[in-house]
Amino acid sequence: MSSAEHVILRELLARDPDWVSGSALARKLGVSRVAVWQHMEKMRAAGFEFEAQRSRGYRISRRPPTLYGPLVETQLKVRPRGFSLLVLDEIDSTNDEAARQLSAGRPTPFAVLARRQTRGRGRFGRVWHSESSANLYASFAFRPRVEPGRMQTFTLWMGVNLCELLANFAQVTPGIKWPNDILFGGRKAGGMLTEARVDADQIRDLVFGLGLNVNAPASGWPGDLARRAVALSEVTGAPLDLNRLAAALVGRVLLAYQNFTDGVDPDAFADLWHRYDLLRGQPVVLLEGGRRHPGTVAGLDDEGALLLRDPHGRVSRYRAGEVTLEKSA
Ligand code: BTN
Repeated sequence: MSSAEHVILRELLARDPDWVSGSALARKLGVSRVAVWQHMEKMRAAGFEFEAQRSRGYRISRRPPTLYGPLVETQLKVRPRGFSLLVLDEIDSTNDEAARQLSAGRPTPFAVLARRQTRGRGRFGRVWHSESSANLYASFAFRPRVEPGRMQTFTLWMGVNLCELLANFAQVTPGIKWPNDILFGGRKAGGMLTEARVDADQIRDLVFGLGLNVNAPASGWPGDLARRAVALSEVTGAPLDLNRLAAALVGRVLLAYQNFTDGVDPDAFADLWHRYDLLRGQPVVLLEGGRRHPGTVAGLDDEGALLLRDPHGRVSRYRAGEVTLEKSA
């Protein structure tokens, strides 16, 4: 990974907001100043704007509002050995593309990001609305050597890590609705979809997908999503730098995966879970296999199953399902 654009970006970002001379860039790349200028024209077409001054050189004055691969890569602070990143313009589903790449033998870990998805999927085969290139659609592929039983806690662990990342990155207060929703004020900003292929009693490969509403305008949601969905920019009141957020997110997911395979300290997990959990003590209805289970959430068990106290005081555990918060009286 060292195209001319990567090199130019690395130099400009390292000196930002200072200037970098055209001749320094030309020297670094081993090309003429005219060739540097041509590369920058290409980058302008991707949404960058540069200030140029004859005596000082160049500096970035605007970053692209949509995903730009070299800009994500140059801002990555975590890069495990063998990691690769694919940034696509459009794909059916980043989870499906990651699965295809796994089948074709691509080394892990890798991440697939796309500006748009034509068949974005959510849990229970639902559609994940993926038209806006102002949002993030990302999938991460791994080949962990763990038993399938640990999948549930994997998604929960990723969820609390993502909440923490968003809290630090954007100074917001996200909440997690078991098992895979990230919410702000009751509206959904993010959803996770973990899919694994299993061999005998071990996971062969695993794809962790994340959809995150970042800068999509509130007016753009179709139908009742306008009521149920929210983008981070609505919460912060200003657009976020999508490429910087993508780089931070990739780094956090890779670190969280490493922690997970090393073995997460149960107390550290419980702390994070309690910080972001929206359901504990709340009256809910859990829908599972077409059945409704009303109750009050009593917490999680060690395997990440939801504990629900029914109206008779009996506590049952549920490994899957869709939770709806009931309005408390
Ligand atoms: C849910 O809330 O039901 C999960 C939504 C997961 C959506 C993401 S977007 C990136 C990845 N590709 C997909 O097709 N789905 C996941």
